[in-house]
Amino acid sequence: MIFGALLLSFGVLAAADDIIYAPGTGALASGWENWSWSSTFDFASTAGPGGVESISVNTEEFGALSTFAETAFDNNYAGLRFDISGAQPDVSIYFSSSLNSVSSTSLPLASMSTVVNTSAFTTITVDFNNLPGNEGILPNNTWNLVNFQGGQNGAVYFITNILLLDEIIVPPLILSAEPIAGNMLAVTFQGDADLSQLSAIINGAQVSLTQSVTYSPPDTPSQTITYFTLSTPLSAGSLVITAGSTTFNYTIPATQSLTIDITETKDISPSIYGVNFPPDADYITLLGVTMSRWGGNAVTAYNPNGAFTNAGNDYYFENRVSSPGGRPLLAAGLSGGLDWVSKDATSYSYPRTTYPDQQSFDPFNSDAGDGLLPNGSWVTPPPQSNVYTPWNTSQAAAMLSAMPIKPDVITVDNEIEIASSTHQDMHPDPMGYDEELARVIMTATMAKDTLPNVEVAAPSTCAWWYYWTSDIGYSDNAAHGNQDFIPWFLSQMNNASVQAGKHPTYIDESWIGTSVPAQWTEPNPNAVMLIPRMQQLIDQFYPGTRLSVSEWSSTDDTDITGGLVTVDSLGIFGVYGLDQATYWSEPDQKGPIGLAFWLYRGNGTFFGDKSVQVTTANVSPDVLGVYASTSDGEKVSIVIVNKDVVPVNLAISNIPAGTYFLRHFGGEAGVAKWQTTINIAANSNFVVPSYTAVFIQQQ
Ligand SMILES: *[C@@H]1O[C@H](CO)[C@@H](O)[C@H](O)[C@H]1NC(C)=O
Ligand SMILES: *[C@@H]1O[C@H](CO)[C@@H](O)[C@H](O)[C@H]1NC(C)=O
Ligand SMILES: *[C@@H]1O[C@H](CO)[C@@H](O)[C@H](O)[C@H]1NC(C)=O
Ligand SMILES: *[C@@H]1O[C@H](CO)[C@@H](O)[C@H](O)[C@H]1NC(C)=O
Ligand SMILES: *[C@@H]1O[C@H](CO)[C@@H](O)[C@H](O)[C@H]1NC(C)=O
Ligand SMILES: *[C@@H]1O[C@H](CO)[C@@H](O)[C@H](O)[C@H]1NC(C)=O
Ligand SMILES: *[C@@H]1O[C@H](CO)[C@@H](O)[C@H](O)[C@H]1NC(C)=O
Ligand SMILES: *[C@@H]1O[C@H](CO)[C@@H](O)[C@H](O)[C@H]1NC(C)=O
Repeated sequence: MIFGALLLSFGVLAAADDIIYAPGTGALASGWENWSWSSTFDFASTAGPGGVESISVNTEEFGALSTFAETAFDNNYAGLRFDISGAQPDVSIYFSSSLNSVSSTSLPLASMSTVVNTSAFTTITVDFNNLPGNEGILPNNTWNLVNFQGGQNGAVYFITNILLLDEIIVPPLILSAEPIAGNMLAVTFQGDADLSQLSAIINGAQVSLTQSVTYSPPDTPSQTITYFTLSTPLSAGSLVITAGSTTFNYTIPATQSLTIDITETKDISPSIYGVNFPPDADYITLLGVTMSRWGGNAVTAYNPNGAFTNAGNDYYFENRVSSPGGRPLLAAGLSGGLDWVSKDATSYSYPRTTYPDQQSFDPFNSDAGDGLLPNGSWVTPPPQSNVYTPWNTSQAAAMLSAMPIKPDVITVDNEIEIASSTHQDMHPDPMGYDEELARVIMTATMAKDTLPNVEVAAPSTCAWWYYWTSDIGYSDNAAHGNQDFIPWFLSQMNNASVQAGKHPTYIDESWIGTSVPAQWTEPNPNAVMLIPRMQQLIDQFYPGTRLSVSEWSSTDDTDITGGLVTVDSLGIFGVYGLDQATYWSEPDQKGPIGLAFWLYRGNGTFFGDKSVQVTTANVSPDVLGVYASTSDGEKVSIVIVNKDVVPVNLAISNIPAGTYFLRHFGGEAGVAKWQTTINIAANSNFVVPSYTAVFIQQQ
């Protein structure tokens, strides 16, 4: 007994850790219960690496290993540790409470490790004071469930040695030290790192360092940044930073010139910093969101009498409840327009009891099918009235009149031209040029009659392909004088607005395909040129129409590259005079996309409303984006995004000298919200680390 106690105190387990599962018992530890779902388990598997006893887990779609603590563990632990093996399984960890139904943020395994493999167990530690993926601190709650949930395609893995940790000792470590701006080093560290040993050598000569400020980002409390001022400005050549036994080496390239002309200005539309579904007012303030869109496939079937929607082809054509009511509508998009809306919260179009042969069924409702026969053809849909109730423009007008917060913009449905697949049960026939135009004119007329100042966005098309043809195919182009769809649509709208004496449309685009078949008559067909192309078509066929991108994304919301793409895109939207944009979908406030919005507009500090001219020499837009602005004719702001793997060194001319607020994310420092204040001399050199986005604003 004494020997056992000694082993415990000297061994890997601190006395107050709480074991959830350890090898040797074939079961969860005492005090823990198995609350798992939709999965196959072996709690005494020795099939994992090294024959170590583990739980073998094979989840179905969204199935989970769920462990329930008979006594809630609340916030009494410092973290969670476990050993996992599998082919980088798609599993996410979240904590929840059966007492109040609260769930924490879901933490993807990929944000903790990307080397999880089948040949060894990888030990993962989740620090509750510094959640992976910059998710901040685990909120206080009566937590009593630890859940490991598989993704849409399930997850297969072995897991063992699961325990709640009494203590996590963060080892002191300098994580990064990078050159930034004209004469600064940005040094990030964790724990009680000793920065007094830091030294820097520029081109062989020792330079002295003055410690400036230390900043601890609210979202990553255990990663701190300290800025140092160098006695000699950064210059082309070698920079070696040494901290104890750690060395950070850089080669600063020769300068590239960058000229700002603050007299040349163009308006930046305030509505380009929008997102779909911003969750709350704090989110809007902290990211500076200017436009809130409520739309998408489910909203097509929105019935205000009960707040019912239908998920369409996105999820087994099921009705559910979902309402814009709780959302902060800064300016809303609103869909609806296929003559039917959901009749209740529970019906679905393709019950197994009626259609036994379907490709797949909802894992949470085994009666609801996807409407596809095993051979890939659609089931012949049942009458719409099984699931929907009729809807017309009188009802839509009544709904708009009753809305407590009126939308500024109404979209005529959502990707209506692919209704035959997204809403196969509601509108199985392919949408053609004429039907889409008729629906747009009908809805636009209703909207303008009901809310005279509302703007109407159409066509809200889904993809490059449908800019130029319809779901019917090329016979439809042929039937319309071989004119591509958008030019035809614009000229028809121009004619309709002359008839009506009104000008009701935006052009609204989503994502961009790449195919350019010979049948399309577009000039320069191999270049997308999305914004200038649409602007040129508008000028040619329907001048004065505005351009909106209602669903755009970086395609990688969790990686730094997604954040840099988003910074670049927001800059381009401003310079090119795009009228409106809303990110699809609600980006994680603390992830790379959230930080891109924060960079331009976070927490009350805004990039300017006038774009100013930036001239660069020999700088490829593939590696560098530079966007400059002023507010109220003064207060210069510049955003620089370095997409290269090496630092960039810019010789900026014409920049007003003085104090600037600086914020940045990326590079070695990661995606936290780093910020400080710097001094810039007129005609100054400015270094931006690799894979980094920087914002500076004259104070
Ligand atoms: C754990 O729960 C799942 C889901 O109910 C069940 O399939 C499995 O057999 C249980 N395992 C043990 C060891 O109780
Ligand atoms: C497999 O995981 C082990 C443990 O984390 C790690 O040491 C090893 O490098 C990984 N192997 C590969 C090929 O990633
Ligand atoms: C949780 O509660 C403790 C004690 O009241 C408090 O010190 C701490 O700041 C709270 N943490 C969070 C994340 O709210
Ligand atoms: C950094 O540069 C120094 C001096 O050129 C060199 O001695 C050292 O090996 C380099 N270190 C690394 C990690 O490249
Ligand atoms: C799939 O099966 C259905 C029903 O048997 C049939 O009507 C349809 O033509 C088939 N589709 C294809 C592509 O073979
Ligand atoms: C819409 O439907 C309602 C209820 O059936 C009907 O009273 C109304 O006349 C219809 N409006 C139009 C424009 O068809
Ligand atoms: C313009 O609209 C009117 C009224 O709808 C229609 O008669 C006419 O054919 C249209 N002109 C063109 C060029 O489409
Ligand atoms: C936002 O700004 C306020 C005041 O400037 C500051 O106290 C707060 O910490 C900031 N919040 C975040 C999340 O950066």
